[in-house]
Amino acid sequence: MSTIENLVDDLERSHAEAQERMSDPAVYNDHRKAAESGRRLKELEGPKKLADAWRQTQADLEASRNDPELATMSADLEIELARLEEELKLALVENVPWIDAKYYAATQVMDEARHVEVFAKYLDTKLSGHYPVNAHLKMLLDDIIQDSRWDMTYLGMQIMVEGLALAAFGFIHQLTTEPLLKQLLRYVMSDEARHVAFGVLSLQDYYQELSSHELRERQEFAFEAAVRMRDRFLQQEVWARMGVDVKEAVALVQQSPERAMFQQMLFSKIVPNCKKLGLLDAADGWLRTRFEELGVIQFENWADTGEEYDMFALANGEVAGSGGEGGAGKAA
Ligand SMILES: [Fe+2]
Repeated sequence: MSTIENLVDDLERSHAEAQERMSDPAVYNDHRKAAESGRRLKELEGPKKLADAWRQTQADLEASRNDPELATMSADLEIELARLEEELKLALVENVPWIDAKYYAATQVMDEARHVEVFAKYLDTKLSGHYPVNAHLKMLLDDIIQDSRWDMTYLGMQIMVEGLALAAFGFIHQLTTEPLLKQLLRYVMSDEARHVAFGVLSLQDYYQELSSHELRERQEFAFEAAVRMRDRFLQQEVWARMGVDVKEAVALVQQSPERAMFQQMLFSKIVPNCKKLGLLDAADGWLRTRFEELGVIQFENWADTGEEYDMFALANGEVAGSGGEGGAGKAA
């Protein structure tokens, strides 16, 4: 099926579900739920009209191709169909719907630029240089950014990628004895915790209004991202640079108990945050079962980042070089 057909199918399903919710007494008797569902239905009305026109034009085009008398219309209908597809794509690209989130996003960009700067400098001046972004991670990031739904980009970026980064930084922060790296990680983690917490807070309410079909899509997206991130930690590019046989090294690494522990630790932030969003148990607990299979469900009752991010915040004067260890020590 073509992408546009998938988009239209999803849209029609979401529209039908939103209509159904509006006639559910549990929704229309609850002022807040009714307002939310009404807003959702209104958002879908415009794209739904475009989708209807697209279906009609597609049927007309089909008819014109099978009828010699209508054949002259085919070219015009093809142009009309292409125009409708463009409009539909634009209408379905949902931006983050509220202004505070846009202000917040601007501050996050600034944070990330600082992180890139400091880690690049550390790697290039204190160690032997850095590696380009891992190909698997790059593909995952592209998929996350290209999704037209704002909440999918948030789920991928703020919850999955940032959640994994926070756990990985926490792990290295605990293990390293190098004071400068420890301090840098402490600073970066205080930012990352804020990024993840913002994702949790912004998605939490939104997900309460989604149907179980829509939630299932989010679960699948989260699971796929989790598996792709886990599998990228085989460090092939490192073995290659060290002149070690990559295949042999990867086979050995895969048997190492330390690596298994590290891989599990990577999920220590993701699982509680997915739980907080209601994603573990929605749609018959699909994601819970997947996380059980991955062997990471034991993290479900760890603190979610919405609760713990205060612990990561820098204390007064900590940035000035007091060497404070407090927050990260408690939280990591
Ligand atoms: Fe971040």
